Amino acid sequence: MSAVEQLAETEAGQTRTLRVSRWKPGDTLPHYEEFTVSYDERTALVEALRQIRLREDPSLMIRHSCLHGSCGTCGVRVNGREVLGCLTQVADLPPGPVTVEPLENAPLLGDLVVDMAPAYRRIEPAGLFPVRPTDGVSRPAPGVKQLTQFQDCLECGLCASACPVSSVDPGFFPAALWAAAAAVEQRGANLSEDDALWLCTTCANCLRVCPEGIDMTQVMPAIREVAVGDGRVPAELQDVFEKSFRYGNCLGENPRRRHAWTRDAGVDVRVLPNDPAPVDVLFYVEDYWSYHPRGQTAARAFARILSTLGVDFGILGPEEKTLGDSQRLAGEKGLFEALMDDVVATLGRYQFNRIVTPDPHGFNALVKEYPKRGHQYQVLHYTQFLAPLVDRIDWKKRLDVTVTFHDPCYLGRHNGEYDAPRRLLQAIPGVRLVEMGRCRENGYCCGGGGGGMWLDSLTKDYMSERLSERRVREAAATGADVLAVCCPYEVSLFEDAAKSTGNDHLAVRDIVELIDEAMGNGAGA
Ligand code: SF4
Ligand code: SF4
Ligand code: FES
Repeated sequence: MSAVEQLAETEAGQTRTLRVSRWKPGDTLPHYEEFTVSYDERTALVEALRQIRLREDPSLMIRHSCLHGSCGTCGVRVNGREVLGCLTQVADLPPGPVTVEPLENAPLLGDLVVDMAPAYRRIEPAGLFPVRPTDGVSRPAPGVKQLTQFQDCLECGLCASACPVSSVDPGFFPAALWAAAAAVEQRGANLSEDDALWLCTTCANCLRVCPEGIDMTQVMPAIREVAVGDGRVPAELQDVFEKSFRYGNCLGENPRRRHAWTRDAGVDVRVLPNDPAPVDVLFYVEDYWSYHPRGQTAARAFARILSTLGVDFGILGPEEKTLGDSQRLAGEKGLFEALMDDVVATLGRYQFNRIVTPDPHGFNALVKEYPKRGHQYQVLHYTQFLAPLVDRIDWKKRLDVTVTFHDPCYLGRHNGEYDAPRRLLQAIPGVRLVEMGRCRENGYCCGGGGGGMWLDSLTKDYMSERLSERRVREAAATGADVLAVCCPYEVSLFEDAAKSTGNDHLAVRDIVELIDEAMGNGAGA
């Protein structure tokens, strides 16, 4: 059916207003123009855009080809979310204003069209595309025959538009890693020279938008495992692996000092190896709350909150070892499994009802990885544990601060928990919660996941700014006084970033520190 015939067919339908981003070479910034389109239940967004071009403005630049989700050319952002225009029905668009913009992190050619050539150049070395013949005779690249698994990717670039690393490193294209992974899986390619292997933080924002469900959080650990097996590991990461193996924590600290933080907590914290009676809550402290000075502050605050609420809790003290989920995602599956054997043996010595941990990475391991190997526990992130108890808190102090909240990828996107931290923040007297533009499902990664916490020396050379710095700028732009977090990686990452970006006025605080202060417990009370 011709475009004119399709247009005539939808004339009888309903209408919808689209706010379309317009830009042409020479313009400094895009502007937005509103167009009213006709639609019925079968009208795809890309057809609505064609309508605009046919009926109102032939200069509107859009791109499409197959119109059925195969060619990958029609990617745009609708209200900030990356979609394929031909698979998005106008009738399904959310109520209210609908903004249509080009994909991000690629050079803009005009209106809704971006230049995908730089991204494709990243795929080419992975062996996906045939090598351009110099003698005019087309032939496949070496290894391309083995890439039969690389059939699903549309090369649509939605992943690059959503990817936090692509936003600070224009050469980073998730689909290229996927292509390379397919090649390495077949031993037809070698990623050892490609540092892109270590840049992905496994934040899963690409999976959220990928029309083919290509999951980099599965791909990256698998391919890194190959690199680890071949001894190709950045030195700083190797150091963390060795410390985790020798000491049971990524910081290389003395296991006997794992519960040293309890001395200044101001409340009794039961250390189960010294007092092994059954306990309701096993507080699995993890590394950064055990050893890092800012983490210890949060651990003490949490212990005081539990104590004030009358919770029966205990810790493993010197017997606790890291759950090692980030080490797994960085490619050390063997280390993760060895740690898991130790952890399971330790947990088997004590009786408890549930595990509560502040660490979304450890939480992810316990709820997703341990059950795969037959180890089931009732596990809660601390925000999930505290949120239902919040009405029992006897608040003593109003904080009078504007707070913005950073969703940890491994609590939010990976495990679907967005509400518990917000419920806690909104319950604190005097806290005004303001959201950043990228939040909840579209939260921007802090850069710490998937081993990123330990790869700063390598990754910073590839990025125009660290992910934590980009995020701190977004937080500061809300006008907030406080950037609230609930992942132990984030306090130190964001505090450093606040300094390096000149946003020292932005205080970075764990949610438990704010609760503790408002309960009149902590040092800030
Ligand atoms: S990995 Fe998914 S989102 Fe990325 S280019 Fe391929 S199909 Fe598109
Ligand atoms: S998981 Fe996150 S960092 Fe990795 S490629 Fe996907 S969006 Fe980028
Ligand atoms: S036009 Fe081909 S995927 Fe949308």
